[in-house]
Amino acid sequence: MCGIIGIVGSTDVTDRLVDGLKRLEYRGYDSSGIAVLDKGVLKRERAEGKIKALEAKLKETPLDGSIGIAHTRWATHGVPNENNAHPHFAGRVGVVHNGIIENFLEIRKKLGGKRTFTTQTDTEVIAHLVDLALDSGLSPIEAFKTSLKELHGAYALGLIINDNPGYIFAARAGSPLALGIGETEMYLGSDATALAQLSQKLVYLEEGDWAVITKDNYDIFDKDDKPVERPITIISGGPAMAEKGNYRHFMLKEIYEQPETIGRTLSNYISDFHRETNIPEGIDFKNLDRVIIVACGTAYYAGAVAKYWFEQIGGISVEVDIASEFRYRKPVLSQNSLFIAVSQSGETADTLAALRYCKASGLKTAALVNVMTSTMAREADIALPINAGPEIGVASTKAFTSQLTALAALALAAGRSRNTLSRDGEIRLSRSLIETPRLVTQTLELDSIIEAFAFDFSKAKSAFYLGRGPYVPLAFEGALKLKEISYIHAEGYAAGELKHGPIALIEDGTPVIVIAPYDNLYEKTISNMQEVSARGARILLITDAAGAKISEELADDLIIVPTCDGFVAPIIIAIVVQLLAYHTAVHLGTDVDQPRNLAKSVTVE
Ligand code: M6R
Repeated sequence: MCGIIGIVGSTDVTDRLVDGLKRLEYRGYDSSGIAVLDKGVLKRERAEGKIKALEAKLKETPLDGSIGIAHTRWATHGVPNENNAHPHFAGRVGVVHNGIIENFLEIRKKLGGKRTFTTQTDTEVIAHLVDLALDSGLSPIEAFKTSLKELHGAYALGLIINDNPGYIFAARAGSPLALGIGETEMYLGSDATALAQLSQKLVYLEEGDWAVITKDNYDIFDKDDKPVERPITIISGGPAMAEKGNYRHFMLKEIYEQPETIGRTLSNYISDFHRETNIPEGIDFKNLDRVIIVACGTAYYAGAVAKYWFEQIGGISVEVDIASEFRYRKPVLSQNSLFIAVSQSGETADTLAALRYCKASGLKTAALVNVMTSTMAREADIALPINAGPEIGVASTKAFTSQLTALAALALAAGRSRNTLSRDGEIRLSRSLIETPRLVTQTLELDSIIEAFAFDFSKAKSAFYLGRGPYVPLAFEGALKLKEISYIHAEGYAAGELKHGPIALIEDGTPVIVIAPYDNLYEKTISNMQEVSARGARILLITDAAGAKISEELADDLIIVPTCDGFVAPIIIAIVVQLLAYHTAVHLGTDVDQPRNLAKSVTVE
């Protein structure tokens, strides 16, 4: 996490660095800071909280300089306050860092006698190492290069040195970093978004690379310090900074965009005319014995829904794992497996590590991502886009439904390739998928009913979400959405599992959201619903017209979603749980788009 940006410019860089930080705020918003070389002298300003706090300080005490580095932080080591905010200084050196220096305590001990540490961060040791190396008489380049060898862990960093007004030093190991090429300036940034307004010509540093950047040149060296050329990528159009328009929050805007974003995803995977799925080049579903889906958070729940689709439609065994667990349990991998990383950002550290683990083990790898310039898209054998457009709200909404849509289409492709899906079956299911944008539009019309329910719901201390089959991951997702933006404690459970312990938590008035469109498991879910109702729970039943007809009287509140094929119902129900979490959070007055303690892109383990 954390976002970094740097400019070796020809004119004053402060405003542009702040603008870049705003684009990077999705990576962390605990604190931020900026350092410039003003006539060769290091100066900085830092602030606790969002970028606007830094902006306010810079208005009071402006910084001038044509070289600068800046940082927006998501705290890992040390509380989020001004003192722990980057850039960190030691002697002549200023540094911004994204990642974790795992051996920072060791380095601190080693330098203890010679240096005083003034922050609780792991990053500060980098500035001290370089400054000490300069003290020993090494040139800036040598000092930077030798200091890197002392660091273990993950880093993307930008570093400037007093009296060295011509340079920014950069390095990448485990955390993404790109250089931007300008006409008369050079740039450094965590990703294409950071650099969007500055340059369309990017050079992505590779693992272990480090670089020396000047106003009109850059030199890249690999992990063995050999000079290397890295390809220039032209970013088309430049990701525009998404605007909220007339919406109160990005999250609401992104919820409402879903008919369009799902449509865009579909156009990539389904041929409307032929009512068939496009099998992505390079994937041979026929000869696979397993699909392994690895992801985190909401993306993981998309993978968990897809397991039902791939198994039932494609007749293929699917393993879904949480990325932070996957590689550490040393999974038994067969060469005939397809690994799919699911990630909105394409940068999530654990998911990326799982992808690399499988690639190194010889598996065919695919990355289903929203950001096609991301590390996962570049490193996987096959990059599968979801085309949801920039997702700014920290709570993932439109990316989730686009991930589901793409995975549903891939399950159809698997079914066709493996002859587990008839041509008629494929036509019927593709048609259902093509209908989804319309069904989502109808579901959005339930907004005011959901908002009304959210008013009472926002008074709850704790809530439960229940479902069976593919609605189990939807229950998890509903609970996650509620927790992350409203801070109400919530848990999702498989409806049949509740009586094995968690039912003890049900009290008079405990809200329980039951997800049960009419299907072969409907009656069983309704029995579980009655078990909690009998113990005083307040039930909100999310069902369709057929389900409502049977159980209307058993629920305290009802949300009736449009009737649709069970295959696409998880996509439709996602809209309801998103709106429910959104309105609850709005009633509670939380920061919906940037909830506490979170960041949009989690680039540390
Ligand atoms: O960028 P990714 O899809 O890899 O991110 C994974 C999770 O961090 C993300 O889905 C997170 O759980 C969201 N905040 C949930 O709304």
